Amino acid sequence: MTVRPYRSALYIPGSKERALEKARSLPCDAILFDLEDAVAPDEKIAARDLLCKTLTENGAAYGARAKIVRVNGLDSAWGSDDLAAFAAAITAGAQIDAVLIPKVSSPADLDAVAQLIPDVPLWAMMETAFGMINAPAIAAHPRLTGMVMGTNDLAKELGTRVRADRLPMQAGLGLCLLAAKAHGLVILDGVYNAFKDEAGLLAECEQGRDMGFDGKTLIHPAQLDTANTAFAPSSAEIDLAQRQIAAFQEAEAAGQGVAVVDGRIVENLHIVTARQTLAKAEAIAALS
Ligand code: COA
Ligand code: MG
Repeated sequence: MTVRPYRSALYIPGSKERALEKARSLPCDAILFDLEDAVAPDEKIAARDLLCKTLTENGAAYGARAKIVRVNGLDSAWGSDDLAAFAAAITAGAQIDAVLIPKVSSPADLDAVAQLIPDVPLWAMMETAFGMINAPAIAAHPRLTGMVMGTNDLAKELGTRVRADRLPMQAGLGLCLLAAKAHGLVILDGVYNAFKDEAGLLAECEQGRDMGFDGKTLIHPAQLDTANTAFAPSSAEIDLAQRQIAAFQEAEAAGQGVAVVDGRIVENLHIVTARQTLAKAEAIAALS
């Protein structure tokens, strides 16, 4: 069982050389190199060139971190040139694990991108009302391997208020989660804007984790530790998983299909979850 951790996925503006360099030593599981909303219009082309060059000449410097490039949408002035530039960069050896497409609203949006950039997995920003409605069809796209919630754009489009419990966001989050899980995709939760509010971030990380998200997208390095801790199995969870596996093996040896641990039944299906917990913990341990 191999699992790649995606606890923390940090957006880095593709225009900021200092941040690009800093990211090589930051404890994030994934980097979202951004050309879209974090980059001002008059910096778009320079950022694209800088990012292509960085990932072609120095991609290995980012180590085990997943390298994901968020391009501009095809409905913008830069989208198709971004895709052409990264298609060429990949041919020239650039290390890119996925290309993230903004505002995916239907599978046709992915078809259009897929034609322009072969040979790289696609990820979709899920951040429009149509994206929510069409999440099952989007998740089924053969080139798609990941989804990222764009909760700021979604809130804007839906006209929802910001609430700590994210109640207005639950339908969209749930739809995308179901679609992603049905197709075995990675799915990351949206950003927490108040990057100095650690308690608020922790609460939102825990909510996303409990719902089944693989990790959280982040905007500032100060948010990394909170997400890394929240989305990693705790020592109590690891201990429980080990005890469940041991108890179940014992029960099986005695010809029984069910064990009891801490007053709760443990069946075959719980052992699958327990093994996933241990595999995730091992993958995280292997990073350091
Ligand atoms: N990735 C990598 N490094 C980052 C970073 C990021 N997203 N955000 C900040 N840093 C670095 C800074 O370069 C600075 O490094 P230095 O002190 O070694 O020079 C350090 O972290 C502290 O930064 P700080 O001064 O606290 O933040 P700031 O005021 O420079 O920037 C933001 C604050 C929010 C503008 C900035 O974090 C940012 O641009 N985040 C990404 C936004 C984004 O990508 N949005 C699109 C997706 S929602
Ligand atoms: Mg967006």
